[in-house]
Amino acid sequence: MAANKVVIQDLTLQYSDGTESLRGVSMEIRRNAVTVLFGPAGGGKSTLLRCLNRLNDLTEIKASSGKVLIDGENVLDPKTDVIVLRRKVGMVFARPVVLPLSIRENIVYGLELAGEKRKSQLDQAMERSLKLAAIWDEVKDRLDDPAAALSGGQQQRVCLARVLALQPEIILLDEPTSGLDPISTGKVEAALQELKKEYTIVLVPHSVQQAARTADYAAFFLQGELIEYGEGKTMFTTPKQQRTEDYIMGRFG
Ligand SMILES: Nc1ncnc2c1ncn2[C@@H]1O[C@H](COP(=O)(O)OP(=O)(O)OP(=O)(O)O)[C@@H](O)[C@H]1O
Ligand SMILES: [Mg+2]
Repeated sequence: MAANKVVIQDLTLQYSDGTESLRGVSMEIRRNAVTVLFGPAGGGKSTLLRCLNRLNDLTEIKASSGKVLIDGENVLDPKTDVIVLRRKVGMVFARPVVLPLSIRENIVYGLELAGEKRKSQLDQAMERSLKLAAIWDEVKDRLDDPAAALSGGQQQRVCLARVLALQPEIILLDEPTSGLDPISTGKVEAALQELKKEYTIVLVPHSVQQAARTADYAAFFLQGELIEYGEGKTMFTTPKQQRTEDYIMGRFG
């Protein structure tokens, strides 16, 4: 099995208003690791994340070039089955979006849509996903309560569990803890450290501190360009580029 799950080659993307949000980005994303995309607002982090599961299809793009290879297949190829791709590459967003259903139903919803009807299978997947998302103990006695009644931090972990229930291979998280208190944030971060044993994780952190805490590998983006990429430990102690250092030290933001 190749160590790299995702290989991005010379990716350039321009929105229809002319904004060039990625310029010649090349990087390889390792499996069983947390790879962090960090940098100031507008750097292209979310745009890159959305290329990995083709969520950019929903916005107007003027031009794009380059490749995003996942397990060797270019997912930007128009022939890619986007439904299959999005099952393989799950995404968690900044604001938890729970469905107006019970906790249980939130988790099994996607599986039911995919045709799974066996209660035992659904129950098993639900328990497994909630455990992986580090929320099982908090909800196991109230699975039929509305998910919306949970705290924001709990809802976010329910959203993570919902993604996990579909057994993706890659999990994308775009500032998943931006609205959470420090305790919930810590729980999500701890869950990611467990999850990386099985999955490939790509995280846009909400702060440099979170990037430093979580990154096995870190990529610094500035105005659509990948400035520096390497091991997290090195990046946050001895960055190679002056611009990376300035950003990490808070000299601009
Ligand atoms: N749907 C869109 N249409 C036009 N331009 C867009 C769209 N989405 C993003 N952009 C532009 O593309 C550039 C990169 O945006 P992107 O959202 O990827 O940055 P980001 O690094 O995620 O920033 P933030 O930290 O604020 O989330 C910005 O200049 C942004 O204004
Ligand atoms: Mg963003």
